[in-house]
Amino acid sequence: MLHWVELDHCMQIKYNIRTLKPSATLAINEYSNELIRQGKKVYKLGFGQSPFPVPDEVVNALIEHAHEKDYLPVKGLYVLREAVASYHTRRTMMSVTPEDVLIGPGSKELLFIAQLSFNGDLIVPAPSWVSYSPQAQITQKECFWIDTSSNPKRLLNASLLESFCSMHPDRRFMVILNYPSNPTGATYTSSELKALAEVARKYKLLIISDEIYGELTHNGEHRSLTEFYREGTIVSSGLSKWCGAGGWRLGTFTFPEELRWLSDAMAVVASETFTATSAPIQYAAVKAFEFGPNIELYVNQSRVILQCISQYVYGELTSVGLTMPEPQGGFYLFPDFAQFREKLNKKGITTSSQLCRRILEETGVALLPGVDFGQSPEELSARLSYVDFDGKKALDYIKQHGNVKDINAVAPNMVIACQQLKEWLL
Ligand SMILES: Cc1ncc(COP(=O)(O)O)c(C=O)c1O
Repeated sequence: MLHWVELDHCMQIKYNIRTLKPSATLAINEYSNELIRQGKKVYKLGFGQSPFPVPDEVVNALIEHAHEKDYLPVKGLYVLREAVASYHTRRTMMSVTPEDVLIGPGSKELLFIAQLSFNGDLIVPAPSWVSYSPQAQITQKECFWIDTSSNPKRLLNASLLESFCSMHPDRRFMVILNYPSNPTGATYTSSELKALAEVARKYKLLIISDEIYGELTHNGEHRSLTEFYREGTIVSSGLSKWCGAGGWRLGTFTFPEELRWLSDAMAVVASETFTATSAPIQYAAVKAFEFGPNIELYVNQSRVILQCISQYVYGELTSVGLTMPEPQGGFYLFPDFAQFREKLNKKGITTSSQLCRRILEETGVALLPGVDFGQSPEELSARLSYVDFDGKKALDYIKQHGNVKDINAVAPNMVIACQQLKEWLL
């Protein structure tokens, strides 16, 4: 029989898991909730959740299918795969079949099992969403961050990708690109995508194009990398952002035929882990991806609201000297506080983590530090989610007024949060 000392000795968590901390976005949410419990007012600009309700007809579809109880096929409910395929065909004007589609319990899980299944290392731009690199750590891949500070949009561009790949011509890489970007809110033009596609083709890169915010491109003109690099691009999307259904946990991957082997490998992993995505959610998602006129209207109105609020926040923050890429889609801004470095240093603030902690404690505004997105700890940057408002009220407002001229009527917390930040800085 083993004694507890021996057990303690042999029961160990693997080093690559032990050195991880809980996902940064979830941690800030928990700390904000803790401050709220203590009676403090917190402006939740740290967590990137859609403020909008799930459209009524999608909710009704879920109610209608609540009784669905059977396990569904590993790759997803066929009618849903058909709906997702038609949706992507309409969006990209490229023919996508249901066989090209894989459904999972959130795109985060699909991104994870893609990394687990692919034999090669990972390239991501810095800054990038918080979970790509920890997933590489869990799956024991090397993660290469490419610094994008030479690009005002803070996105990976063709010349940065070319210079990295030319130094590693014989290695196999998966690249994850995300646009509109979390954390910068910037997105690509068609010509930028075309240039990236040329480099990707030259070095035979596998690209996961994380387009989860694609529908929320503010001018409604999102273009997909798959249009330019079909053979090597997997498009990642889901219900979480444009359909307001993050907690429903439904993500989609769309593959080219050339990458069916990866989809098959991921399905094997899925069959041994989550089995299949929740049945009622999949039935309801059919309604969402059919993208009928009411959903089209809902998404258009969501975009207008996000555009107005983002322009307001951008205007307020740049007026005091913060710099950041101009918002083009999604929920985020990525302000750089470098102009205030001297003043902040005098307050004892030298890292983005200290910056965000002090801002939260002294103003109630929750932001996420740039370091969580792959920036050096000393870069005084932060991610700001401009979604601390009631999405249902905002949609009702826009139905009545047709626009959002009065930000205070729709997003009063965003107005106060900007004021607080400005006063704290000046
Ligand atoms: C850039 C990006 N990709 C993927 C995800 C994961 O989304 P989900 O797992 O809800 O589909 C998120 C969620 O915040 C995100 O911001």
